Amino acid sequence: MSHSLAERIQGRRARLAIIGQGYVGLPLAVEFARAGFTVTGIDTDLDRVTALNLGRSCTPDLKDEDLIALIRDGRYEARADFSAIPQSDVVIICVPTPLRKSKDPDISYVVAAGNEVAAGFHPGQLVVLESTTYPETTEELLLPMFQARGARVGEDFFLAFSPERIDPGNPTFRVGDIPKVVGGVTPECTRLAAMLYREIVPRVHEVSSPKVAELAKLYENVFRNVNIALANEFALMCLRLGVSAKEVIDAAATKPFGFMPFYPGPGIGGHCIPIDPLYLSWKLRLNGYEPRFIALADEINRSMPDHVVEMTIEALNGRRRCLNGASVLVLGVAYKRGVGDTRESPALEIVKLLRDRGAEVSYADPQVPSIAIDGTLLKAVALTDETLTAADCVLILTDHPEFDYRRTAEMAQLVVDTRNATWGIDAPKDRIVRL
Ligand SMILES: NC(=O)c1ccc[n+]([C@@H]2O[C@H](COP(=O)([O-])OP(=O)(O)OC[C@H]3O[C@@H](n4cnc5c(N)ncnc54)[C@H](O)[C@@H]3O)[C@@H](O)[C@H]2O)c1
Repeated sequence: MSHSLAERIQGRRARLAIIGQGYVGLPLAVEFARAGFTVTGIDTDLDRVTALNLGRSCTPDLKDEDLIALIRDGRYEARADFSAIPQSDVVIICVPTPLRKSKDPDISYVVAAGNEVAAGFHPGQLVVLESTTYPETTEELLLPMFQARGARVGEDFFLAFSPERIDPGNPTFRVGDIPKVVGGVTPECTRLAAMLYREIVPRVHEVSSPKVAELAKLYENVFRNVNIALANEFALMCLRLGVSAKEVIDAAATKPFGFMPFYPGPGIGGHCIPIDPLYLSWKLRLNGYEPRFIALADEINRSMPDHVVEMTIEALNGRRRCLNGASVLVLGVAYKRGVGDTRESPALEIVKLLRDRGAEVSYADPQVPSIAIDGTLLKAVALTDETLTAADCVLILTDHPEFDYRRTAEMAQLVVDTRNATWGIDAPKDRIVRL
């Protein structure tokens, strides 16, 4: 059974279904399609499916023309139903794993996708979960769905976890450049899943179980979250000591070993870094252990929007202005440079806090046409000399490459720069305040 699946994978004749066609699933589908596989992208969002079949990409990592070429060659199609599952040799699940309001994992998307896959299961199928999740999801949650339908794992059914590590908008590391970690429920599951990914990535690192692979992803993101928190708290210390945190961190980063620079910012956002560590905490809490680093880092990172508002108040105060009634032009509301993703973006909270205190807030973001704050729709303004000079304060929250920071520093009355985007640009000290 696994022999014929292996042959189809290595001959690139295996049919793939990839569930969830967002930031993760679409680039993955395209990478397999480019390698010669026939791929069906499945997504419950009908608008997204319609757009994809018209050749409209929904991620910065894929150009429309590349998608159109794959559709034309019959390598890729999107569907809003699960009818492709019974014909698929391989199914990869890339659905969201957000938090509930209570900050507990919302695993409902994985459950829904898993049930659909199990309903269309046929012997000889390989199923891989890529969504970031708490340890033991693959074996405790997904495996029983298939076993209930008679699947014998490692014999006529193969199940593995392989975390996605894509960094949307990063041109240096795309799906095909990033090594994959693969952990199957049995050695045969690992072997087949690793064989699949070797067709599209340069290196596959096999681990002994899905749990190790699930934890590897969580550890990567806890590492990032904790180090960003350290940089954020360090920046607050440096502010009090009257030095630039960036200058200190850059100096420390000249050490060629044992140090990796992380930089402060207005807080953390996106679908991963603020969320994934809490998946791990939740699981550990069930095991009677309260992770302390994660809690402290979360507290520091989530306090950054308040600090940014405080910095803005102080900066305006230095120019005899108060925040109430001041016009604040925010540059960038996406959670990071180069993307249009505002999920969990600290900018949304900062804009709300500024408005609550009476500021008149407008924003420019080439990637985000509008945002809703407390039920009010704000539309992006163009970044022009007029908008820059009209604002009492220009607040840089996302260092998008499209912004002209030199011009911003020249034209603005006051700049509060939380990303050090104006680093190296000369201006009087009371006109640019940096985190
Ligand atoms: N975005 C990132 O940078 C990134 C990086 C690595 C890992 N991840 C992880 O990958 C997973 C997916 O994240 P994303 O950013 O691609 O999310 P996304 O919201 O961009 O895409 C998920 C897609 O899944 C679809 N979907 C939801 N439920 C479905 C279902 N039952 N069946 C079919 N489609 C369904 C949604 O309509 C959406 O289009 C998450 O677990 C995330 O933590 C994300």
